[in-house]
This record gives sequence, structure tokens and C-alpha cells, in this order.
Amino acid sequence: MTKGWSKADWRAKPRVQMPDYPDQAALHAVEAQLAKYPPLVFAGEARKLRTQLAEVAAGRAFLLQGGDCAESFAEFSADNIRDTFKVMLQMAVVLTWGAKLPVIKVGRVAGQFAKPRSAPTEVMDGVELPSYRGDIINGFDFTEAARVPDPARMLQAYTQAAASLNLLRAFSTGGYADIHRVQSWIAGFTEEPASARYKDVATRIQDAMDFMTAAGVTSETAHELGAVDFYTSHEALLLEYEEALARIDSTTGLPVAGSGHMIWIGDRTRQPDGAHVEFCRGVQNPIGLKCGPSTTAEDLKVLMARLNPGNEPGRLTLIARFGAGKVGDHLPRLIRAVQEEGAQVVWSCDPMHGNTIKSASGYKTRPFESVLREVREFFAIHKAEGTIPGGVHFEMTGRDVTECTGGVRAVTDEDLSDRYHTACDPRLNASQSLELAFLVAEELNARRSANRRAAGF
Ligand code: PEP
Ligand code: CO
Repeated sequence: MTKGWSKADWRAKPRVQMPDYPDQAALHAVEAQLAKYPPLVFAGEARKLRTQLAEVAAGRAFLLQGGDCAESFAEFSADNIRDTFKVMLQMAVVLTWGAKLPVIKVGRVAGQFAKPRSAPTEVMDGVELPSYRGDIINGFDFTEAARVPDPARMLQAYTQAAASLNLLRAFSTGGYADIHRVQSWIAGFTEEPASARYKDVATRIQDAMDFMTAAGVTSETAHELGAVDFYTSHEALLLEYEEALARIDSTTGLPVAGSGHMIWIGDRTRQPDGAHVEFCRGVQNPIGLKCGPSTTAEDLKVLMARLNPGNEPGRLTLIARFGAGKVGDHLPRLIRAVQEEGAQVVWSCDPMHGNTIKSASGYKTRPFESVLREVREFFAIHKAEGTIPGGVHFEMTGRDVTECTGGVRAVTDEDLSDRYHTACDPRLNASQSLELAFLVAEELNARRSANRRAAGF
């Protein structure tokens, strides 16, 4: 794919948002160790995801990407992983049911540890310390010692990612995700309108399954019913970690990032000549590119040429994150840039990162209304431009947190302190996530009806 590329070339490029490790010898020892470890994912899986994303680019499938803003060592547990997985399954059911499209499920998980920050330092009660950059880099505690970048954290992140993936693979293929269990995934939050709607969908699916069973189609005869494909993704921010886990795919002889199936480039690290673009351009995984208000049409053209010179569908997913009320100011020019280049991309909507505000109570939050509004705007613009809204990208958790305000259960500013557990940005809770899935399903359904009408049905 990329002649003359090597996995260490990023080191010669300008880097931003990466730590300076004070103990270089310790860093090199960790890198050498990680380089010997097995990759977390295999090239064939990354290629399979690319093929599925190519279907998304063509409008024949839909991408659902979601999970923690930042995975944390302290919050690591089987229950947390299961609950997030379960909500993703529910959302996927709602979307598949509503849109009649296969849903490609990609978690922000098993590697989503490193965070770009808006400021290099944080001040609290007159004390200034380096910012927290995610558990793979330094500690959350507001102490001088915790904030020193420690390379040994990469080993812990690798171990946590390996254990998370192991569990997710078991959930995906070991019976938990069997569609015949669709009614059991709801357990936990049963009183809300979105839950009632989910139950209705689940009952209809169950009916359809009972019919299929009677007709002789079961999970044993049709394996697709008994298992799901679930992929992992994270921001490829900490390039020492990424480089150490990069491998050569024995089937194709091409480099692949072994740290996750899909990796993305953040809005703050997408400099065309920077280190992050340099690393990502050389690996064959599907690549995400965050596009924010400062992304120009010219930037995007250069980035598309660099990251997907062969214009292969499924390789590049553009993740728009402008903020509610601003999508119309930015998305059309980027859509036109894509069209002018004849580029094959997946368009996905991240309605989280452009909608972060500081609440009156001092917590970082995201009004659920703004999240919904950005999603609606994203669909409306694609409709107007005649292009394909291919997916959504959420920060969410299966837990009953109070981090984003609003939703049917109306989390208020005052409620934020109740269950505010995120290590970084505010996440949608399980009930808000499901509500959002219904909105997206309605948008997709409206699109489907319009397309059918246009086709004369
Ligand atoms: C993120 O996805 O967690 C993130 C930091 O996003 P962005 O780069 O779009 O700000
Ligand atoms: Co975030």
C-alpha cells in the first residue's frame, strides 16, 4: 500500500499531544517488550472490517461506533464491559429493525486510553500540574507524582485491552449475543419510554425468530443468528504504543496496527505533515479522521490523498464533530471536497465533541438536546447534498451515570454530581443511548422511505 513507509517514520515528524517520557531507558524497555507480545487483533479481522465499511460507504450498511471517552484502569470490570456491550447490542437491534440495514458494531474499547487535552497543564486551588492524559500515560490523581508520564502504564493498558477483547470475543460468539436472546438484553432499566419501545421491537423480533425456528432456521443452521461481529477502535494517539504493536500481516505482507481493528486520528492531531498522519497512512486498518470546525476543504483533500491514495472504500471514515447549530456551516464544504475528489468515504457523525460545555455546577457536560440536534442536522445536510449518512460515533456507557444532562429521565445540572464517573468527557448513559438509537433509526427509516419513493415503489 505505502511504499517506503516504515513504522518508525513518524518519529521524524512534528508531534503534538504526546508525552515527553523523563525515563527514556524505561520507555525503550517497555517498547521492546510490547514489540514481542502478540498483537491484540489480526490483519484478517481489520480487512474484514474494511470490507464491511465499504458496504457502509455504499449505503448498504450502517456504522455504530461507541464506548468510553477514556477507558480507565480503576473502572475496569467484566460488568462494565458487558453493560456497554449490551447497550450496543440493543442500539444495533433498534437500528437494524428501523433501517433494515446491517449494523457494523465498533467499540471505543480495548485501547481507548490516551487523551488529547486542550491545555498542557491544569490548575486547582492555585496549584499547577501537568494535565492528565489518560491512564496509558499518567495518573488521574492531582499530585505531582501521578502526573509524571510512566511507560509501564502501556503494559497495563495492553493487559487490560487483551482481557477486554477476550471477554468481548466470548460475548460476541459464545451465545450471549444470539438474537434469540434479544429480550434479555433489556434487563436493568425497565421503566423508561425507550425501554418500552425496545421491548416492543424485541417482541416482534422474537416472534419472527419463533416463526423461523418453526421453519427450521435456528442459530445452529444459520450461524449469523447466534453470533455478532464486534470490532475494537481507539484514537491512535500514543505512537510509541502503536508502533510497538504494529506488525506485518503474513497474508499480504503489509503493515497492520495490532492494537485494535480500527484506529482514528483526532481533531487535534490531524496535521497533514504531522506524526499521527504519518503513522496511520502506512497501516492497512480502517482509519477514522475526526473533522472539526477548523478542517478546511483543502486540508481534507490533502489528508484523503495521504491516507487513502488508492481511494479504496472502507479505508477512510470521516467523523464529523462540529457542534449543534454548526453542522450547516461546515459539513457542506467538506462533502463537496469529497465529491470534487471523487473520494470514497464513510461519513459518520460524532455529536459529542462539539457539544461539551461547563455546567453551572462546574462539571463538564453535554446537553442531550444538543446531541440530538447535531444528529438531526447531520442527516438533514446529507439529505440536502444527496450523500450517505453512514454512521454515528458516541461516547456512552452501559452504566446509569449522570454525565450528560437531559434525556427522558431528565438529568439536571444538579444531578451531575450524583454519578459522574468518567475519566474524561461526559458519556451518554444506557437510557440516553437507547433513546438516541431510536432517533437515528427514525432518520434512517425516513431516508429509506424517501429512497423507495424516488425509485417508484
Ligand atoms: C475523542 O474522540 O475522545 C476526542 C478527543 O475527539 P476529538 O479528537 O474529535 O476532539
Ligand atoms: Co472524548
